[in-house]
Amino acid sequence: MDAASVADPIAGSPPDLVLRFPAERSPEQFLSQFLRQLADGLGRAGLRLELREGGALSEGDTRFGSVVLGPENREIGVEIRPVNWAESPPALLSLRVEPTARTGSELTIEVRGWPKVLEAAGGTFEEWTAAALLPAVLRELAPGPLGEWVMDQQARRPAGAAAVETYRDPTYHWPGFLLIRDRLRLTPNDRLLEVGFGGGAFLKRALESGCSASGVDHSPEMVRLAGVENRAAVEAGRLRLFEGDAGALPVPGDAFTACVCPIAFSFFPDPSASLGKMLRALRPDGRLALFVETAALRGSPASPEPFASRSRFYEPGELAELARSAGFTDVRVEEPALLPYARAAHLPQEVASAFEGTGGAMLLLARKPRARSEDLPRTEH
Ligand SMILES: C[S@@+](CC[C@H](N)C(=O)[O-])C[C@H]1O[C@@H](n2cnc3c(N)ncnc32)[C@H](O)[C@@H]1O
Repeated sequence: MDAASVADPIAGSPPDLVLRFPAERSPEQFLSQFLRQLADGLGRAGLRLELREGGALSEGDTRFGSVVLGPENREIGVEIRPVNWAESPPALLSLRVEPTARTGSELTIEVRGWPKVLEAAGGTFEEWTAAALLPAVLRELAPGPLGEWVMDQQARRPAGAAAVETYRDPTYHWPGFLLIRDRLRLTPNDRLLEVGFGGGAFLKRALESGCSASGVDHSPEMVRLAGVENRAAVEAGRLRLFEGDAGALPVPGDAFTACVCPIAFSFFPDPSASLGKMLRALRPDGRLALFVETAALRGSPASPEPFASRSRFYEPGELAELARSAGFTDVRVEEPALLPYARAAHLPQEVASAFEGTGGAMLLLARKPRARSEDLPRTEH
């Protein structure tokens, strides 16, 4: 960033606060991922940041900051002017990323001018830091909020660099994927719906059958990733991806011959509503395959805290009853041996051994009742 262009003369003054983050990523990748997370986090806090030259930082209709982009997508500044404080000087937040030999890149965040802003309003920087800034930081570090964040970031609404790596090819999910594929035996005549598709790895494999598919997931980052991973199918019109909630499912009714939901149902806050929407989306006689982890995994290395206490673990009878109550028929629950599927997926021995025995997962299979007028013979699951 051209320091003089931003908030001269504060851009040249020493920073009041400096944070540094090393990362094993390219500088451009690091900054763009960081900014995306920052904008999402600000959104959750009721603020909006427009990531473009001259873009606004705003709270409701009140604009209190302007974005200044630096060269080569490596710097961004936000000049902040608390509104209505006529005499208040500006403050400057700057984020700058540089390549380093040791880790790949380092992001430096600097804040300038806050002491003057606060002085102008009759306060001091250290009092504000003690009363407002550090409590907000420490609150986020408390087990509750931090556990919620980790749960969201890694599983419930995946986001960030690690989640992208995990869900592009979710090693531990392949046995379940292959089991579902085995049971559904999709053909080019099928129209498949996946709810909670993550990085779209199952969709990619399912599309090899020649079927067409749609998916719904509420994580914007997963929708982007699944789109990249299945670009050819999206471009060919064989795959449609929707950002949306399992409790609402923004897809047409009576449209799909099969609906799958691998390793996502435990996160749905209203399981009955989600099952009701899946039923609605299916055509009469359409098949449902829900693959969920069982209570045996709660607190185990496969489902440690903070996930264990934030996921819903079902007993087989309870899951079957939920499906029946939602209107499904031919409901059955399997507790399959997954080791053969782990081997079929060519997982390394140390990964495959996690699937020895049963008790870690169950598969619910069910159908939408046929319309009374169609009394055709059923195909097997
Ligand atoms: C553990 S990931 C599994 C992803 C994928 N099915 C797989 O097996 O790799 C769970 C996925 O469900 C999605 N999800 C969780 N709750 C959801 C909800 N209420 N509505 C839509 N998607 C949801 C998450 O965003 C995430 O992508």
